[in-house]
Amino acid sequence: MSDNRGLDDAPGIPDVDLTRPSIARVYDYVLGGKDHYEIDRQVSGALFAAVPETSQLALDNRNHLRRAVTWLVREAGIRQILDLGSGLPTAGNVHEIAHAVDPSVHVVYVDIDPIVLAHGRALLDDDDTTTVITGDIRDIDAIFADPAVTELIDTSAPFAVLAASIFHHLSDDEDPYAVAAAITARLSPGSYLLASNFLDDDEPRAKALEKAFLEGGLGTGRFRTWAEQRRFFDGLELVEPGLTYANDWRPDDQTPTESPTHTLYAAGIGRKA
Ligand SMILES: C[S@@+](CC[C@H](N)C(=O)[O-])C[C@H]1O[C@@H](n2cnc3c(N)ncnc32)[C@H](O)[C@@H]1O
Repeated sequence: MSDNRGLDDAPGIPDVDLTRPSIARVYDYVLGGKDHYEIDRQVSGALFAAVPETSQLALDNRNHLRRAVTWLVREAGIRQILDLGSGLPTAGNVHEIAHAVDPSVHVVYVDIDPIVLAHGRALLDDDDTTTVITGDIRDIDAIFADPAVTELIDTSAPFAVLAASIFHHLSDDEDPYAVAAAITARLSPGSYLLASNFLDDDEPRAKALEKAFLEGGLGTGRFRTWAEQRRFFDGLELVEPGLTYANDWRPDDQTPTESPTHTLYAAGIGRKA
């Protein structure tokens, strides 16, 4: 999966507890990146044991994100993007995808994990259009009040909020629907919310992978039904083709439409009227 010459050989990052796995680092490992520790690789083992094609699930999500960001910038005319739970820099970062269409697009990355801030700052050192901050999606007010957000995102004009592969890391008790509603309340007319998530489409692999996420050491990772996921878009109009399997959302010639994890991931984009 990786040659492991990543974080193991790097100087320590403040506030990182090496005895606890991190979602961002586990995701990086599953995607074949280098930013992970032994504890993350151990936890990932439980995921692969449950569903061996778990990496494809992450790749399906990244592929959807690429198409969705391209659509938002090219077709919907979006020039400001707030990416919540953005993750570690990886192949095809959101600002790179957006800038391939228009280099002036503003992007603010937000993640709870301090390692994302450290790596993002290094990557974005000389980029005036894009920044990264630490924030918790459960506190939407604080994110929108952050000076980096107020500087780069004019919330009186249309903007897009990306919630890719993040609501499923909130438990039912953390009420991801209330988080989505708080985001929607902040959207100006013509703005968009992307949500993509693990899907419980009534197949055993979804249950097995959810169990591995919840009980395999990470403690987070809910597979939600179509009906549950539609609630993320309350108050918004779903753009065509609606809430679908991620690979069915405006597929292009790079979309893995024959993916073995096709039925385990759903995605949609809602528009505020
Ligand atoms: C699976 S990754 C998704 C990364 C990227 N959005 C993507 O779709 O490829 C989930 C990310 O959400 C972050 N995260 C988890 N809980 C969070 C929270 N409460 N607030 C902000 N970020 C959070 C994790 O640190 C991780 O980087």
